[in-house]
Amino acid sequence: MKARKIREGIYWTGAVDWDRRLFDSLIPLPDGTSYNAYLIQGTAKTALIDTVDPRTVDVLLSQLETVQNVDYVIAHHAEQDHSGAIPRVLEKYEGAMVLTTPKGKGMLIDLLCIPEERFKTVDDGETLSLGDKTLEFIHTPWVHWPETMVTYLQEDHILFTCDFFGSHLATTDLYVTDEPRVYEAAKRYYAEIMMPFRKVIQKNLEKIESREIALIAPSHGPIYDRPEFIVGAYRDWISEEPKNIVVLPYASMHGSTQKMVEYLVSALAERGVTVYQFDLSVTDIGKLAIALVDAATIVIGTPTVHVGPHPLVFYAAHLANALRPKLKFASIIGSYGWSSKAIEQIAGLIPNLQVEILDPVVCRGFPREADFQALDNLAVTIAEKHKEHHLV
Ligand code: FEO
Repeated sequence: MKARKIREGIYWTGAVDWDRRLFDSLIPLPDGTSYNAYLIQGTAKTALIDTVDPRTVDVLLSQLETVQNVDYVIAHHAEQDHSGAIPRVLEKYEGAMVLTTPKGKGMLIDLLCIPEERFKTVDDGETLSLGDKTLEFIHTPWVHWPETMVTYLQEDHILFTCDFFGSHLATTDLYVTDEPRVYEAAKRYYAEIMMPFRKVIQKNLEKIESREIALIAPSHGPIYDRPEFIVGAYRDWISEEPKNIVVLPYASMHGSTQKMVEYLVSALAERGVTVYQFDLSVTDIGKLAIALVDAATIVIGTPTVHVGPHPLVFYAAHLANALRPKLKFASIIGSYGWSSKAIEQIAGLIPNLQVEILDPVVCRGFPREADFQALDNLAVTIAEKHKEHHLV
């Protein structure tokens, strides 16, 4: 795709990656993604904000073909989907300097072997004049790595945010046109990438909110010309209050755990609790992450394999622990053949979760009347706990 004009002297110069289906060999991309770079041409100097993933470097270079000079490459983030084309851009523009945070400089040298003399680090709040346009650099650590920053274009009130507020969405829309679709993609992005840094993001949001913002231009997905849409969504996602939701990831080998899951889901639904049930053998792990954004309770369902939880359950528990959602309660249900240490092993996998553990329900073989009664009790407890916390 060709470069696209946003304002006088401001261009989108990114690449849309329609067919990418996996990021970091981990994160599913059902809707592809984009790598957005932005060219800012002032009356005196020209800056390129971020670059693109190396797999699409030719797209960026063709967009820059008629651009005679780039003085600065602003590197918001060292991850290669934004920084990976910097070496090629520096080859083309021999006088260009990379502007980044002090941490960013070290990481870009480590990851991309960029020579030290091509860098100038910028302080938090530092400004740079391009002539008629002024860039203000705002350090915003942990959106997504510790070195990240954003840039505010003062005259045009545009905030360039890199991963912050991004969405993995391949689209020809320069601006958000379908808010529900972008909401889902941005929530998935937040859940998978940003949620572990929820508390730092609260501070970063406060830091940027004092500015007048006409556009939020992230480096993934479309530009927000109604910034309050995505800022409001983030405020909700990072809030301390979960919702009246149970997330139930599980595996089942011969149907016993499956039976328990189905019974518990029904018992919770009867009591007015919303449940998201995920069979880990088929689920999109991103959907599980999205559900964890708002959930108050996680119930993990597992059969017993070699005395411990099913390997898929290990993975899901590790993921939930790493994402640090705002869960308040947790429990475990499942079945075993002759002996099990599944409860102890799962509990050991979730030390980051600040949760109250509710009595697990584990049965030998297929569940029977007493087990169903125990599941009813668990459903009652969860519903009461949610009510006590006034969760809606
Ligand atoms: Fe889009 Fe953290 O890179």
